Amino acid sequence: METNKKSVPLIRAHKASGANPPIAMVTAYDAPGARMADAAGVDIILVGDSLAMVVLGYDDTLSVTIDDMAYHTRAVSRTNPKALVVTDMPWLSYHIGVRDAVKNAAKLIRAGAEAVKLEGGANRIKVVKALVDAEIPVMGHLGLTPQSIHAFGGFSVQAKTKEAAKVLLDDAVQLEQSGVFSIVFEAVPQAVAAKATEILRVPTIGIGAGPDCDGQVLVFHDLLGLTFGHKPKFVRRYGSLGEMGIKALEGYVHDVKMKSFPAPEEGYQAGQGELDDFSYGRN
Ligand code: KIV
Repeated sequence: METNKKSVPLIRAHKASGANPPIAMVTAYDAPGARMADAAGVDIILVGDSLAMVVLGYDDTLSVTIDDMAYHTRAVSRTNPKALVVTDMPWLSYHIGVRDAVKNAAKLIRAGAEAVKLEGGANRIKVVKALVDAEIPVMGHLGLTPQSIHAFGGFSVQAKTKEAAKVLLDDAVQLEQSGVFSIVFEAVPQAVAAKATEILRVPTIGIGAGPDCDGQVLVFHDLLGLTFGHKPKFVRRYGSLGEMGIKALEGYVHDVKMKSFPAPEEGYQAGQGELDDFSYGRN
C-alpha cells in the first residue's frame, strides 16, 4: 500500500501546517516527463495547457482541446506518480455552461487527473461550485491567465495597480469560498502574491509571483532548457537539455554519415551457418 502518495487533502493540509517546505509543482505532458518529475520529488504534476506552446508548437494556449488534455493526462497518469496529478481545463471547455464544464472535467478525471485547474475569478464561481459539488477538486488560476491573451492584449504582468490588486484578491477570496483547494498566481507583483498568501487558507502557488507563495510552479520545458526563443524573467533554467539534445543528435548524424553506426554488436546475426548459401533473386 502506497503511503506517500500526494492527495488534495494533503496539499490543503500543508498550508494549515505552515507550508514549510514550500510545494513544488511542475508541468509534464507525457510518461517520460512524469517519471522524471516524480523521481525528482515534485508534489504536484500539472498537465498544463502550456502543452499547446511547449510541445505542440502553437503561439498561445487556445488551440488545445479537452481531448488533447485527456490524451496527455492518460500518458502522465499511466506512470502512477506519487505526485498529485492536476490537469488544466482548456479554453472553451468551461466557458459555455456549467453542465458542459462538469462533463469536460469528468473526461479529465476519467483520464487519470485527480483535480482540474481553471482560469478566472468571480466569473467562474458557478463552474467551480458545480465541479466541487460533483466531487472534482479544483485549483484556481489568477493574474496572467494565458487563455485571456486577447482580452489582455498580450502576455503582461497583472494586478499592478491598487484597484487591480483589490479585484485580484477579491477573486481569490471568492474562489476559496467556492471550494478551490489551491490557487496559482501568475505574473503578479510580489507584494500582491504575498498578501494573497497571508489572507488565504488554501495554498498559493506562484509563477512569476515572488518567493512568498506557499509553492512554486514552472513549465518543464522552460526549466530544463527545452524551449527556444523568449525566456520570461521568472524562468530559472536548471538544465540545457535542448543544447545537449542537439549535440547528441549531431553525434548520431555524424556516425550515420561516417558509417560508424551501427556497430556489429548493435545488430542481430542469423543462426550459425544459416545464411552461408543464401541467395535471393528478384523477379
Ligand atoms: O499551463 C501551464 O503550464 C500553467 C502554469 C504556467 C501554471 O498553467
